[in-house]
Amino acid sequence: MTSPAQPIELTDAQDPRTQMYCSLSDAALRRRQDTEHGIYLAESSQVVRRALDAGHTPRSFFLSHRYLESMQDVFAVHPDVPVYTGSDQMLEQITGFHLHRGALAAMDRPAPRSVEEVLHGARRVVVVEDLVDHTNLGAIFRSAAALGMDAVLLSAASADPLYRRCIRVSMGTVFQVPWSRFASGEHPDDGTVPGVRRLQDLGFRVAALELTDRAVLLDAPHLREVERLALVLGSEGPGVRQATLDACDDHVMIPMSAGVSSLNVAAAAAVAFWELRARGV
Ligand SMILES: C[S@@+](CC[C@H](N)C(=O)[O-])C[C@H]1O[C@@H](n2cnc3c(N)ncnc32)[C@H](O)[C@@H]1O
Repeated sequence: MTSPAQPIELTDAQDPRTQMYCSLSDAALRRRQDTEHGIYLAESSQVVRRALDAGHTPRSFFLSHRYLESMQDVFAVHPDVPVYTGSDQMLEQITGFHLHRGALAAMDRPAPRSVEEVLHGARRVVVVEDLVDHTNLGAIFRSAAALGMDAVLLSAASADPLYRRCIRVSMGTVFQVPWSRFASGEHPDDGTVPGVRRLQDLGFRVAALELTDRAVLLDAPHLREVERLALVLGSEGPGVRQATLDACDDHVMIPMSAGVSSLNVAAAAAVAFWELRARGV
């Protein structure tokens, strides 16, 4: 096995080599020009490992002394990637927050995948419409991975799966579940409607998860039999857009009790993923 890179001890909180770990927002990292598609940060050794398992390319590692030993196997596979290390206090000074997960890595963002590519062979697909909360999106990815959804499609206005918080909440499953974004400008309002039509053309039955007057119950028998199903989730505020609802084949609801008007979107998604899972071969 190749020898791992010699760790570089950080002694200056202003060290320009670690700039991407402190001052840059997720949006600024995404826009960096020194790599084809920008950069994202993976937090925690488990998430870093998942990103590497998914074939993503590391630019540098940044971790406290305590974690050096346990990551030697990773460094050995990437001997040309710099490993920055320091005391907990030094790393905290650089990042501006307590690094309780101990390890970070700056990674090249992978090339975006096309909608057709992620739909190849898929039977159960999630369509996320204008979801802006990274915690909700991360939780949806985690449930999608755990409950057998094959792909996630995002409207142009939805949050970015590769933002730190989303990656962390998803436990790294954003690297695992294939995802793509409907192109901005695909529709005058960047809505999901053309995406719904595309899915229908590809043989998907498209169901909006929404409490509407025409909604059927989530456990309606005909939904279980569907060969290819796409489930549209609405935004945290207004829910699924009217134009999208009009384009969908079904509206599906989880009945509410105790005067509760709706579930959090990630909670609703988890319930629906399980009920609508692909059954049989
Ligand atoms: C929090 S809801 C949106 C707000 C909702 N329109 C309201 O007035 O409470 C966000 C999304 O979660 C899903 N959702 C939440 N509760 C649901 C339920 N009981 N049945 C079906 N979908 C639900 C839908 O996809 C919805 O668009």
